[in-house]
Amino acid sequence: MTQSLPDQLRSTVRFLGRVLGDVIRVQDGEAVFNQIEDIRQASVAFHREGTEEAARLMAERLGSLSLEETVRFAHSFACFLQITNVAEDQIQRRRGRAGDARFDTLAGALRSLKADGVEPAEVRALLENALIAPVITAHPSEVRRKSVLDRQSAIARHLDSFDHARTDSDRAAIEKELVREVSIFWRTRLLRSVKIAVADEIENAVSYFERSFLAELPKLYGHWGEVLEGTDDLPSFLRIGSWVGGDRDGNPFVTAEVMRRALSRQSRAALRMYLNQVHALGAELSISQGLAEVTPELKALAEKANDDSPHRTDEPYRRALTGIYARLAATYPRLTGEAPPRPTSTSAEPYAGPEELKAELQVVLDSLLREHGPAFAQGPLPDLIRAIDIFGFHLATLDMRQNSAVHARVVAELLKTAGVAGDYESLDEGQRCELLTRELSHGRLLSTPFAAYTEETARELETLKTAAEVKRNYGPDAIRAYIVSNTTSVSDLLEVYILLKEVGLFTPGDPPRAEIFAEPLFETIGDLRDAPKTMARYLSMPLIRKLLAAPGLQEVMIGYSDSNKDGSYLTSTWELHKASRALASVVRGENLRLQLFHGRGGAVGRGGGSSFEALLAQPQGTIGGRIRVTEQGEVVANKYADPELARQSLETLTAGVVLASFRKDAGDLAAPHSKAMDALAREAMGAYRALVYDTPGFVDYFFAATPISEIADLNIGSRPTSRQASRSIQGLRAIPWVFSWSQSRAMLPGWFGFGSAVNASGAPMSQLKELYESWPFFRTTLANMEMVLAKGDLAIAGRYAGLVEDRALAEHVFGQIRAEWGRTLDALLEITGQSSLLEKNPDLAEIIRSRLPYIDPLNHLQIELIRRRRRGDDAAAVREGIHLTINGVAAGLRNTG
Ligand code: PGA
Repeated sequence: MTQSLPDQLRSTVRFLGRVLGDVIRVQDGEAVFNQIEDIRQASVAFHREGTEEAARLMAERLGSLSLEETVRFAHSFACFLQITNVAEDQIQRRRGRAGDARFDTLAGALRSLKADGVEPAEVRALLENALIAPVITAHPSEVRRKSVLDRQSAIARHLDSFDHARTDSDRAAIEKELVREVSIFWRTRLLRSVKIAVADEIENAVSYFERSFLAELPKLYGHWGEVLEGTDDLPSFLRIGSWVGGDRDGNPFVTAEVMRRALSRQSRAALRMYLNQVHALGAELSISQGLAEVTPELKALAEKANDDSPHRTDEPYRRALTGIYARLAATYPRLTGEAPPRPTSTSAEPYAGPEELKAELQVVLDSLLREHGPAFAQGPLPDLIRAIDIFGFHLATLDMRQNSAVHARVVAELLKTAGVAGDYESLDEGQRCELLTRELSHGRLLSTPFAAYTEETARELETLKTAAEVKRNYGPDAIRAYIVSNTTSVSDLLEVYILLKEVGLFTPGDPPRAEIFAEPLFETIGDLRDAPKTMARYLSMPLIRKLLAAPGLQEVMIGYSDSNKDGSYLTSTWELHKASRALASVVRGENLRLQLFHGRGGAVGRGGGSSFEALLAQPQGTIGGRIRVTEQGEVVANKYADPELARQSLETLTAGVVLASFRKDAGDLAAPHSKAMDALAREAMGAYRALVYDTPGFVDYFFAATPISEIADLNIGSRPTSRQASRSIQGLRAIPWVFSWSQSRAMLPGWFGFGSAVNASGAPMSQLKELYESWPFFRTTLANMEMVLAKGDLAIAGRYAGLVEDRALAEHVFGQIRAEWGRTLDALLEITGQSSLLEKNPDLAEIIRSRLPYIDPLNHLQIELIRRRRRGDDAAAVREGIHLTINGVAAGLRNTG
């Protein structure tokens, strides 16, 4: 009989836990092991019994630790929780092995669509014009160092071999290997000792391509070709994008030089992989022309190769590949600035672009197919050709991103210096648009090399020039989009074209042309509500109509975290949904296609939760085969660090997009339901803003009752935690905001306001129950909230409130949080028809419950250490202890910020 999910997990965790325990015994001795084990048992007992006696015992054990012991204990539980995550991933990997039998694969999607009367040919047609793009960002919510990730991967590999071992002696040998790996892991520092720089972030991002995408994505296409009944010319609709080295919003360290470096590093990864593959093919394809025919094209290619090795004169494939290798090797220094990895014997012309390389490899493939049949239709050569189609010479399309406020200042300075407008920023929106449209209609530039610009303007101009250079060097796909953070108006977008024009990336004319397109990011509740109007105005401008006629498409980015921080979980979720639907109709009205770009993170308060469910909950008509989604922080490693999991994640994403694109059942929400949602969203936002923005002293409460200040010192990202120097919630970035509330287990961004909304909106309970039963959006919204509540703990949050010195303030704010928690819990249980959280999802309940005894002691210690530090004890061990507990709690909750 197959084990249940929690049982499988339990036995794997137990196994790894035992290995870790043995390692601690050997390395640190029995006494240390016993101390850790005693606390573990006390915590487990406390969770099982929940008695005061058990609580007292646990507190006593924790309280008796010296500072040194505290640090070691925090390290041990953090290690254990990281290992638990490895075990969980292993279960996931096993489940994924059901392959196409799963519903969340392309094959599964085709089956379920077929049952609804959608034929594979229709799916094929959708994919013809599709774009599915996870975009890797460096958003700082990953607390694990790369070395820790590497050790976890190594442990995972051994665990996997253990699964496949056939004999006891194999198992014993693997266990020995595992012990060795865990021993290294136990002695690996969990914390970063210095702040991560953008160069490290670039390195990390590229490492996912090297570990997973470069090899797995081409294979996936091969598989999908078979799933779609032998289609072998599927376009490369699934591509991986990147923001790392292009996202300058609030990060002064992302400079022109960094952008150059990102592309050069990306290119190095792609070209190295191509070189290795061509080399391997050259070793493999020993076919002799004395024994086989070749096409004339292949013959010509072989002759062109200048390969004078006497050993290969009768081996045309090898000669052709030697020539290809030499050309690639000549391309390598041009794009990476480095010598190629292996010297070549022949000199050759570099490739002008990936198309040339692809065409030559295609000649090789065509000859093999013609002379040797379909055995060559799959395998390393078609995979390599597919890889070049996907990754080109640039590896991943890099987006640029900057804040609209910066553009406004820069454009104002350019206009002023050029004598066009004295005070652009004082103009109203209509005047701004008129002026910008005029500037975009003629070729005269605003900037001059002789002006002394402010540092900001000089930096922005330099970055733009570099973008043009990067496109020239690495091809047009190296950069395509320019995301405008905090877009509120049409002029925010036009300003970007003014800047692009300065470097030749926008050319006025009839029609005007752009090589990079400005794309709005709507990220406050107000801006999301106005987004359809803003876009209607923008898209109806004659200039923009002409500009967009060729691509036939407009991308719009919507921000989950900032809208949540602005207006609460429920309100943001609903406004994002509504805005998407309205935007689809505005864009369609202009005969364009909409491509939504979802800016979401791993935590529910930042748009996290199952991406598959999220896709199915999107409003009808908003996907149509095209979507981009950010992949951030800890999510990147969780999904893509392991090739097998990466493949599953990409399959799931694709299946979700395909299913959502054909869904017919989720027509427009009936008017009364939509009204009910509006009322709920209004009330949720009212309750949330009353607490967060209108409660005097709330900011002080937040800074005292969460580890926000300590998180800022974690060294996990290159950018500052705040956009502004002041201590305001508006200026604070959403990641540390959500991160802090997760650590203190109040999890406020994932639920606050829901209870008040249900109580005050006037929507009858019967209607909410009906919505929950029948509408994927509402069900998913509540399921995510339920998971957050299950990970939260009000008693622990209350202990963090104890850190607030102003007791009246603490009681006032925490009292409101407590009351809202109660209302939210009651409302959720009533709507979902449960008497306790996750009653209907016992597997998830068990998975979360099993982690709590390991997370809670870390919270207890974190509070004590923070108290100690704030009283003036800034010893290195105190800081280390705090950071280790943060690291462990983040690992335990499995989504950070
Ligand atoms: P941002 O991202 O701060 O870069 O806008 C927010 C988030 O991803 O949570």
